[in-house]
Amino acid sequence: MEASKVKQLVLLGAVAVLVVALACVFFFNRHNQVALEGPRGEIAGDETHSAAWGEFYPAHWDSYQDNMANSANPSHFETKPYMQLIYAGTGFAAEFNEPRGHVYTIEDVNSIDPARRKAGASCFTCKSTQAPEMIREYGDQYYLMNFEQLQDEITEPIGCLDCHDPKTMKLRLTRPALIEALERQGRSVEKLTNQELRSLVCAQCHVTYYFEPDTKKITFPWDKGLTAEEILTYFDAKDFSEWIHPVAGTGLVKARHAEYETFMGSTHQSAGLACADCHMPYITVGNKKISSHVWQSPLNNIEQSCTVCHRNGTEWLRDRVRTIQTQVKESQDLAGAAVVAAINELKITRETPTVNKTKLEEAMALHREAQWYLDYVMVTNGYGFHNPTATLNNLSIAIDKAHKAVAKAREARQ
Ligand code: HEC
Ligand code: HEC
Ligand code: HEC
Ligand code: HEC
Repeated sequence: MEASKVKQLVLLGAVAVLVVALACVFFFNRHNQVALEGPRGEIAGDETHSAAWGEFYPAHWDSYQDNMANSANPSHFETKPYMQLIYAGTGFAAEFNEPRGHVYTIEDVNSIDPARRKAGASCFTCKSTQAPEMIREYGDQYYLMNFEQLQDEITEPIGCLDCHDPKTMKLRLTRPALIEALERQGRSVEKLTNQELRSLVCAQCHVTYYFEPDTKKITFPWDKGLTAEEILTYFDAKDFSEWIHPVAGTGLVKARHAEYETFMGSTHQSAGLACADCHMPYITVGNKKISSHVWQSPLNNIEQSCTVCHRNGTEWLRDRVRTIQTQVKESQDLAGAAVVAAINELKITRETPTVNKTKLEEAMALHREAQWYLDYVMVTNGYGFHNPTATLNNLSIAIDKAHKAVAKAREARQ
């Protein structure tokens, strides 16, 4: 063969190999890529009907509807009977159920015990994708409205508009309280990374908050930091109490589902994970890969949620979670009993005719601290898994403060 012919053949062969290789890379990547279906057409900028989005994203709509299967919501009192005395004087003592799927929020908020409706229209803020629209429409008046004033207008549960920009499908924040809290920390909402947003979209609701006196505006108590201690310091500096405990006489603050705050600073968070990594893992639908839109216990699909990183097998993982949660529950029960003892001791002291007022006040201050640290753990979902060390630390503070409250309340009677 002539030398030039050989050269030509080699060249052709090289080109053929290159084409096949490129095709392989292309198909391999396509197979592994998340099926970004959209945007496939116009979704109105204020579309609150998730079903309308579902027409453009059928796989995501199917996944979202699978939230219906997460329907159990037993009462917290079944496993934590001490809650009722601890919450005396608030609506939480009347009824307090465990959470369930995102699609049930309207049903659940409408069937709540009337004692829980005192917070007014604000209740809808984390229950309905229509809330941001209502806040725009009524302005700050929204927070002062009654539950019943908006009840008929609010029909849509948590939906696509809560987390997505309908034009680009990018993640975005829609709840003013979170945006304002971040801005007070000097963070620009425009500059948040996608990985930060994969947690912050959840932090619109899965956080602790309080109603600012007078305006009743939902506010995140984050200005001094996100730990239980820093949040209590924030409330103490404002001399803020949400209610007076009718038995103990103590001015108290109420913690609420602080999943985001608890997660911050944990092993997983510092390793770079976001809520969506465990709670919205990639799933395969037909030949497509999408982020699961079933918000549930990751133990229901541990193969997708955990074993992408952990190679020790699902049984080991399940065991680790259960061990952490059992130990947290044991310490929590001890803290619950200790806080109940503090409340009962304060009752006796308050009913005693001659007491040392200063010591009684000190005992109440200790009760306030104990109850805060316990409540912060008790109402945060996940039984400590999100941050085992911080959770057990908070519970040991609660136990210590409650014991000291008992001793001080006794001392006040001597
Ligand atoms: C609670 C927040 C939340 C809600 C509600 C929500 N999504 Fe998502 N969605 C996410 C997150 C987080 C991702 C992952 C985005 C990323 O990693 O960039 C995502 C991803 C997507 C994607 C991109 C492809 C993928 O699967 O990763 C589409 C399309 C999508 N969602 C559609 C929808 C539709 C349609 C609805 C309503 C039926 C909806 N989403 C409701 C949080 C949400
Ligand atoms: C608009 C508010 C809101 C947003 C945003 C939101 N959630 Fe929720 N979530 C709730 C409420 C309220 C419930 C309880 C619903 C009920 O019981 O009626 C809930 C329930 C859940 C549950 C089920 C709990 C159980 O015990 O079964 C999980 C898991 C969950 N959310 C995770 C997430 C994650 C992860 C994100 C972010 C990707 C997120 N949520 C975003 C408000 C929200
Ligand atoms: C490393 C994985 C992981 C990350 C990251 C994570 N979670 Fe969880 N989450 C879990 C596990 C495990 C449970 C316990 C589930 C159980 O008890 O069945 C849980 C429980 C929950 C629950 C209660 C659900 C139930 O069925 O009991 C909620 C709500 C929740 N997480 C929200 C969040 C939010 C919000 C974030 C981000 C701030 C987050 N999680 C980050 C793994 C994770
Ligand atoms: C994206 C990767 C990733 C995912 C997903 C993930 N983990 Fe982890 N996990 C880590 C890393 C990194 C550590 C730090 C220790 C290490 O390097 O093993 C860790 C640590 C742990 C630990 C040690 C205890 C602790 O908190 O310090 C447990 C238990 C654990 N993971 C369980 C789980 C479970 C259960 C899931 C699913 C719900 C899960 N992980 C999902 C990356 C991941």
